[in-house]
Amino acid sequence: MKILVLNGPNINMLGIREPGIYGSSSYQDLLNLLDATAEEMHIQLEHYQSNHEGDLVDRIQTAYGVFDGIVINPAAYTHTSIAILDALKAVAIPAVEVHISDVDAREPFRQISYAGLACCKTIKGHGLAGYREAIEYLDKLLGHVISQ
Ligand code: DQA
Repeated sequence: MKILVLNGPNINMLGIREPGIYGSSSYQDLLNLLDATAEEMHIQLEHYQSNHEGDLVDRIQTAYGVFDGIVINPAAYTHTSIAILDALKAVAIPAVEVHISDVDAREPFRQISYAGLACCKTIKGHGLAGYREAIEYLDKLLGHVISQ
């Protein structure tokens, strides 16, 4: 099973940006957690972070036919990007949306998610652990689909 983990703008600033909201763990800590999870679960995992909307669209498109599942935190593009929504719909790869913070408890503009419309699940407010939950969810979902 191959899973692609995508992170949007400013996620590379974890540990520096607003630690009261996003915690003190760094982006490298997140990558270490992803790699450890993948090894433990015998999953092939790649990760990619970009501050640019088009780069994220390109990466989703090139996942077609290659990856079985996508975990995506589109960050601020969650609330604005129809292009990312359309890319996720275009490839139709099962996708889980992750937000480190509880976006529902924040500003009203964060309560709209375009990308989420193309995702089979959303995990929010669980910190970095949300990424592991997303991988576990896809593992169960895809295992289930393959066994049918
Ligand atoms: C975020 C929430 C977004 O509203 C914000 O723009 C981010 C991070 C989160 O992980 O909680 O950059 O996606």
